[in-house]
Amino acid sequence: MTIFGIPIFPEQASTFAKDVDALYFFILATCAFFAIGVSIAVVLLGLKYRKTHEGQIGARIEGNLPLELLWSVIPTIIAMFMFGWGASVYYHLRRPPDEALHLYAVGKQWMWKFQHLEGQREINELHIPAGRPVKITISSEDVLHSLYFPAFRTKMDAIPGRYTELWFEAQKPGTYHIFCTEYCGTNHAGMIGNVTVLEPAAYQAWLQGGGMEGTLAQRGAKLFNDLACQTCHLDTGQGRGPSLKDIVGTNVEFQDGTSAVIDEAYLRESILNSQAKIVKGYQPLMPTFQGLVSEENLVALLEHVKSMSPKATASSTAAAAPAAATPAPAAAEKK
Ligand code: CUA
Repeated sequence: MTIFGIPIFPEQASTFAKDVDALYFFILATCAFFAIGVSIAVVLLGLKYRKTHEGQIGARIEGNLPLELLWSVIPTIIAMFMFGWGASVYYHLRRPPDEALHLYAVGKQWMWKFQHLEGQREINELHIPAGRPVKITISSEDVLHSLYFPAFRTKMDAIPGRYTELWFEAQKPGTYHIFCTEYCGTNHAGMIGNVTVLEPAAYQAWLQGGGMEGTLAQRGAKLFNDLACQTCHLDTGQGRGPSLKDIVGTNVEFQDGTSAVIDEAYLRESILNSQAKIVKGYQPLMPTFQGLVSEENLVALLEHVKSMSPKATASSTAAAAPAAATPAPAAAEKK
């Protein structure tokens, strides 16, 4: 949207862009209506009831119950309406569909690195297909960043030491901005890029053109060997470390009696902070790989470990966000 040639609003290029804008304009209009109304009333009533002669005393007002109720109930209804509408849009934005195309982003002073499961790696450029949900798992190599796609009306912080995610479905081919929206140092303003949305066929062609190093999981498998992970994590379960076969999505018990479901966050912690949770029946022998594995290599290792759980691969993305994935089918069953 442009006004007098000045770009005011980015294009609505994702499926939920219209919902986000409608909510935004409703809240803006409601706030403007009351702000302007109250401002006008303050000025007009101030003029009308101003002191006109010496010794004038204001009327004593005891209150007005119907009026008090009216201006409590109406704003409550409006606020709850905003809350309900906002919550519904928010839940939609925060729940990636199960069939979403998965890829990884790493923020680093001052660039965005993207990795596709097929093996393609890009910097400050991202190629995705139109008409298909895309889920991006985000991490940071150094400080806080925030991955923002204005045309898709979505953004998410990149937090050091943690995985976050966002999703969107681009509607039509084109080129759109990528920004960093968290101040991250000298060249924060230069931490920008372009997302190119391609027709599905063109996207398939683009996928064929890259990935010289094999898929992300294959790169992870090579790292797994280079870092000598396989010397302890034997598939037989007889190694010094637990077998990693078919573990994703399962419940694992620890020495201290606690347990956890194995997801991306757990695997990440186990690699970087290997002493944090010791699997029952094993010794705390594993060295830490903190500082030895970059965020990009870490996601390659994750994909390799996930590929050892073929049965859970489909649900491994769901395992990363169980709270988001479970309620939807449950709600569908009730109907
Ligand atoms: Cu990265 Cu600002």
